[in-house]
Amino acid sequence: MTAVRRVGVLTGGGDAPGLNAVIRAVVRSCKVAHNVNVMGISEGFIGLVEMKVRELTMADASGLLVRGGTILGTTNRGNPFRYAYRRPDGVEELVDASGTAKKNIEKLGLDCLIVIGGDGSLSIGERFWRELGIPVVGVPKTIDNDLFATEFTFGFATALESATWALDCLHTTAESHHRVMLLEVMGREAGWIALHAGLAGGGDVVLIPEIPFKFEPLMAKFRARERRGRPFSLVVVAEGAAPEGGAQVFAGEDAVTGWKRLGGVSYQIAREIENRGGYEVRATVLGHIQRGGTPVPWDRILATRFGVEAVRLAVSGKFGHMVALRGDRIVSVPLADAIGHLKRVDPNCQIVQSARSIGIVFGDEDPETVDRSEG
Ligand code: F6P
Repeated sequence: MTAVRRVGVLTGGGDAPGLNAVIRAVVRSCKVAHNVNVMGISEGFIGLVEMKVRELTMADASGLLVRGGTILGTTNRGNPFRYAYRRPDGVEELVDASGTAKKNIEKLGLDCLIVIGGDGSLSIGERFWRELGIPVVGVPKTIDNDLFATEFTFGFATALESATWALDCLHTTAESHHRVMLLEVMGREAGWIALHAGLAGGGDVVLIPEIPFKFEPLMAKFRARERRGRPFSLVVVAEGAAPEGGAQVFAGEDAVTGWKRLGGVSYQIAREIENRGGYEVRATVLGHIQRGGTPVPWDRILATRFGVEAVRLAVSGKFGHMVALRGDRIVSVPLADAIGHLKRVDPNCQIVQSARSIGIVFGDEDPETVDRSEG
């Protein structure tokens, strides 16, 4: 095995609080524990195609622990296998630029590429390793917490903190005005943020993509609360939630990649609740607030542990693997096993059952049972 002397690090896909803490940990453990140089690649994989690369020193890593975002920059349009090339006439077309990325990695003398990303970026990393033979180590990131091979991703806890804070704010105004307040949170096809925020913030109804909902149980819940002197309710809506037989709501589509962005379902749900009568309803879409800000301590610690372990995998030649949290240990799993299938909420899991036990409604209940449930 050739000694690893220089590693590259990049951040891909949507940002998440804690990315900078990983970069810091990579730089510090490379320098402190392994005497390895670090090159920071800007704008995800695009930086490899366009050679946007700079050396990262201990000074660059200073002050990063508390900073949200990523000092390297990132993009959702960063797939070198489908690189958006802008022709001289200004039109963008998708071309395969992975060969250019590989040549640039060789030119830079990178012995390993540390890819910090979600399912999309890690899938690209896996192809780099399997198809191009580029030594890659992965670090899982996403506020959605939907990566199959790790119990938690960093960024999730901070997003949850923001969602819970938002619910706390909505609670007081809902109570004052006797309103039904909806909070729409992110998460794509997984309801983890909504489920946890509902538990932490006292949600009365939680709507997640994994459990198609009907309106009758929701209305029954509002009525039952009203009967016992609580004429207001909090509804947490995952952006990917949809009514039984209905479709998800999208906010937009990327013109080049065709990628569709979820968002706005809570406005439709609010309208339907109001149409059914009896309630004044307001919807708030929390949006990218969830992705920003200072990472909470849990995310800083997880990010640091991931970064340290990623470097250890790199210097020990364990390429094609990703770091992951299992119980209280950071382990490594083959990238091939980690990608392509998402970790979604099991409608029968213990946390959903606990939520049901304290009266949280998911919209799949018998309305009459809900009606009686508030005692
Ligand atoms: O995957 C993270 C995430 O924040 C999702 O929860 C959300 O659907 C999406 O990214 C938003 O993407 P964008 O930053 O492109 O708006």
